[in-house]
Amino acid sequence: MYTLIRSFVLSTLILFSAAAQAEPIKIKFSHVVAVNTPKGQMAEKFKALVEERLPGKVVVEVFPNSQLFGDNKVLEAILLGDVQLAAPSLSKFKKYTKQLQVFDLPFLFNDIKAVDNFMKSPEGQSLLNSTEGKGLQGLGFLHNGMKQLSANTPLRVPADAKNLKFRIMSSDVLAAQFKAIDASPQKKPFSEVFTLLQTKAIDGQENTWSNIYSKKFFEVQDYVTESNHGYLGYMVVTSKDFWGKMPADVRAVVDKSLAEAIEHGNKIALEKAVQDKQAIIDSKRSNVVEITADQRAQWVNVMKPVWGKFEKEIGKDLINAGINSNK
Ligand code: LMR
Repeated sequence: MYTLIRSFVLSTLILFSAAAQAEPIKIKFSHVVAVNTPKGQMAEKFKALVEERLPGKVVVEVFPNSQLFGDNKVLEAILLGDVQLAAPSLSKFKKYTKQLQVFDLPFLFNDIKAVDNFMKSPEGQSLLNSTEGKGLQGLGFLHNGMKQLSANTPLRVPADAKNLKFRIMSSDVLAAQFKAIDASPQKKPFSEVFTLLQTKAIDGQENTWSNIYSKKFFEVQDYVTESNHGYLGYMVVTSKDFWGKMPADVRAVVDKSLAEAIEHGNKIALEKAVQDKQAIIDSKRSNVVEITADQRAQWVNVMKPVWGKFEKEIGKDLINAGINSNK
């Protein structure tokens, strides 16, 4: 009897210590922006929530500023298991789905509220599964903001941009958008934009107030036009394989923490669109150009026909859902 009890106690102890020593699940989260941005802050919040709720079970390591991977490599890295989480901009999923191109259509969304409506609609929610066939699972959408145009000359009407070289993300819609205004689009990684602008290898770029401020683009661009011509946001993604293998109870906590972190990031996105624009104005390093309704109409007229070129790839239903989200 004594031996039985002893061996029971021993095996229980062994089991417990094995459990105590079980390696925590490691989530490497790689992104390209600064820490002090909507995405940077969302990632930090996610780490804090997960590690507080799952101590010793899950560890989150965040790698900002393209430290680990640029957006051209990060999705492959997820599939290879080198990182577990990323949130590339919606413009960078071309190899995995054509549907997300809807977010790049110029002047489709009037504002962030409209984008929010669209993302919450059944059509928007279905897009989280649009990369599933390629092994990537979308877990949520995060805002950055509306994009602005910057250059070393004031861009008031499309003709002002003629023949200028603009850095764009790796999106064919964005390439078509700049071709529509007779400018030259250059697909380049985010990490290279500052140097390309500084050395005048390119003339301009499009981005949100938060990215223009945090990456100091305003210090090497004389003008930023408040065009609000397009949207920049993200899909948080993981590999289907990694997500599926995570124990269900752990996955539920990670998922909930991510949803809360995204909410936090979205709040920061709205604040930064105002604060970072003001910080750029206050810096006096760059002039913010406001355009009239008439000038804006000229940008709309030349850029909007781009929609037609991508209607087949994106799907008319999705584009209509986007249009309806403005109501
Ligand atoms: C860009 O490349 O301009 C953006 O996608 C960067 C980002 O992640 O906000």
